[in-house]
Amino acid sequence: MEYGPAPEDSSIVRNWLEARSGGFGHFIDGAFTPPGTTFAVDNPATGETISQATQSSAADVDAAVAAARRAQPGWAALGGHGRARYLYAIARHVQQHARFLAVLESIDNGKPIRETRDIDVPLVARHFYHHAGWAEIAADELPGTEPWGVCGQIVPWNFPLLMLSWKIAPALAAGNTVVLKPAEYTPLSALAFAGICAEVGLPAGVVNIVTGDGETGAAIVAHEGIDKLAFTGSTEVGRIIRRETAGTGKGLTLELGGKSPFVVFADADLDAAVEGVVDAIWFNQGQVCCAGARILVAEAVVERFTALLRARMATLRVGDPLDKSTDMGAIVHPVQLARIRDLVAQGKAEGAVIEQGDAPQGCFYPPTLVTNVDPASVLSTEEIFGPVVTLTAFRTPADAVELANNTRYGLAASIWSENVNLCLDIAAQVKAGVVWINCTNVFDAGAGFGGYRESGFGREGGREGMTAYLRAPRRAAPQGVGDLPEPVAQPGEAPTQSGGIDRTAKLFVGGRHARPDSGYSYTVEGSKGPVGLAGLGNRKDIRNAVEAASKAGGWGKATGHNRAQILYYLAENLSARAAGFADRLAGFGATQAAAEAEVETAIRRCFWYAAQADKFDGAVHQTKSAHVTLAMPEPLGVMGVVCPTRAPLAGFLALVLPAIAMGNRVVAVPSQTHPLAATDLYQVLETSDVPAGVVNIVTGPRDALAATLAGHDGVAGLWYVGSPEGAAMVERESAGNLKQTWTETDGARDWSGHEGQGRAFLSRATQIKNIWVPYGE
Ligand code: NAI
Repeated sequence: MEYGPAPEDSSIVRNWLEARSGGFGHFIDGAFTPPGTTFAVDNPATGETISQATQSSAADVDAAVAAARRAQPGWAALGGHGRARYLYAIARHVQQHARFLAVLESIDNGKPIRETRDIDVPLVARHFYHHAGWAEIAADELPGTEPWGVCGQIVPWNFPLLMLSWKIAPALAAGNTVVLKPAEYTPLSALAFAGICAEVGLPAGVVNIVTGDGETGAAIVAHEGIDKLAFTGSTEVGRIIRRETAGTGKGLTLELGGKSPFVVFADADLDAAVEGVVDAIWFNQGQVCCAGARILVAEAVVERFTALLRARMATLRVGDPLDKSTDMGAIVHPVQLARIRDLVAQGKAEGAVIEQGDAPQGCFYPPTLVTNVDPASVLSTEEIFGPVVTLTAFRTPADAVELANNTRYGLAASIWSENVNLCLDIAAQVKAGVVWINCTNVFDAGAGFGGYRESGFGREGGREGMTAYLRAPRRAAPQGVGDLPEPVAQPGEAPTQSGGIDRTAKLFVGGRHARPDSGYSYTVEGSKGPVGLAGLGNRKDIRNAVEAASKAGGWGKATGHNRAQILYYLAENLSARAAGFADRLAGFGATQAAAEAEVETAIRRCFWYAAQADKFDGAVHQTKSAHVTLAMPEPLGVMGVVCPTRAPLAGFLALVLPAIAMGNRVVAVPSQTHPLAATDLYQVLETSDVPAGVVNIVTGPRDALAATLAGHDGVAGLWYVGSPEGAAMVERESAGNLKQTWTETDGARDWSGHEGQGRAFLSRATQIKNIWVPYGE
């Protein structure tokens, strides 16, 4: 059956644009600036220039940041309820302007009106309502936190208004003010949103919108007045931002690219799964970071499924985004269209078979199915950000998992089977921040969204999203113990003239005492001269330790109860040797009382994390009527921990225990100056049944070892306590695989005191996987 055209009336937007025919300036300090040097804003569906927006200068960014800074104390002082009232008002006004916003977004971006009307705009309103609620209750629910201050927020063009709401709603709820930059292809809905802020009487300077290209984005990233940055966009730019912000102390969350698997098992409802593909990759023309871009289908049904999919692809209507029966609209910009064409041509040249539906002339691209595609092909590995999906058959569930995880990304996954056991088994094994079971591309403000691996870090939405906009209260400036002298190498275990030296501690790798690769040791000084030798570890030792840790993956699958048992055992064994540890610490110069207190803290810390091992758990969010969303904290994987100089026992355990309690395996670099408190633990670890490879210890030069950990792709998270320069290096070098870092200046915290443990450590040691499970319908 043919449909006639059903065009949406766009006069509401045409009139709005006409009334602003001189183009747009920025929205700074509660008012629009006059247009400056402008760039054209085009409707990609028609090629027509519909408006002009201003390319921000450095002075514009300065003015916006200054306005946000001035407004922030007053905004925070309004209190949760005061802020909630404004957020509710914004939500209501978004609803009142829903049709206008839907049409504007469709014209500016090219996406079908059906989607902006039914998905984007309702979700925008939902985000403001949800976060109005968070503003109301944050002081009770997230005590002991404060807003960051001024947030810099950079959003992409694929969901311009929705991404804006994901960023602005939680930031405002938490008491921050913002400077947001929309993408240069799609600035209009952000500017319309600025109008809504003015309409509801939001205090001047709380929301500032500056327009411009990547240069403007870079100016926001580099601005000293920005306390926290939130970015959504390409992994490439995310990496640049990670490097640029290294060592600045700015908070950072990155929501980056993906190449998400869409797994169809033989017993799936194939018709439903085919509709799922439509929503996974043809929704928004495939310009979706969590698009199901790789279909993996069970061999037994591959032919039937592909036939159904081909038939469905042929029915998709590509064309005028404002036509209510259009399924796929325009690609956002000719540059993006060229990129898609180029990638598909490369795939074709590699031998992939390309099948396509119809698309009109212009900035449109047809729905595309790619078969006969090698897992190493550019089409299997690169984020295309277009309506192009690959299809590969698999034999067993294990093959499916291997293929699903064969990517550097980890944003989302979709799993289709009528067997719920199978779905949940696979959900546990895929490396993705969001898993949809028998559904795809479902979003809600009440559930976190964000990725594993090179898809970035941090979550948007839900409790995790809120916490990203809050920080622990600032600490007094540390009394620096940051810089450390290079340890002086000396030959292995050669006797030295100092009578106090009794032995050379080796490294601890894969459950074994290992000689350092260098063959050298360094002297460990006590208060009365040298007290021993420690192995001088190097990058080879770190690599061996990471390998050993990688092999100990079973630890992450052990139950919390299992891990708790082992940590209790560790506590007991440490207790039994308390006197020896106290002597060791006293030898470093601590008073006897302080040494005993540190050992007592260390023992208690083992008990505390043992207690938490089976209690720090996730949540069930009631997101949509037919779903619940399980928010599961999962270990990061292999973590590097570079420990504080002071409190060499309690400080070491402060980092190692929360990491292993949550199922991570660690490569630990103990206090460079007093490593023997950690090396004395080898026996305790061995007698406590900690599996080989779960805790690996490499002594030696702190920053050189930290650098190797930071650059290692097998390390998923890295905590570093050291010098500010070391912290900057760790953050910069971690950009390669976008590992999650947590850095602090040595001396900023009392590691043997209350500050040395808590839930914050457990959250940092985990990442939330949000699993959408059908429920109740
Ligand atoms: P992009 O990452 O360059 O742009 C996203 C935002 O970052 C825009 O607002 C842009 O102006 C800004 N930006 C660019 N360079 C910057 C810098 N150095 N510092 C700060 N901000 C900067 O993405 P682009 O070029 O629009 O698209 C290229 C590819 O990136 C797409 O084909 C797609 O594969 C991917 N992409 C992924 C997105 C996602 O949500 N995962 C969103 C947009 C693009």
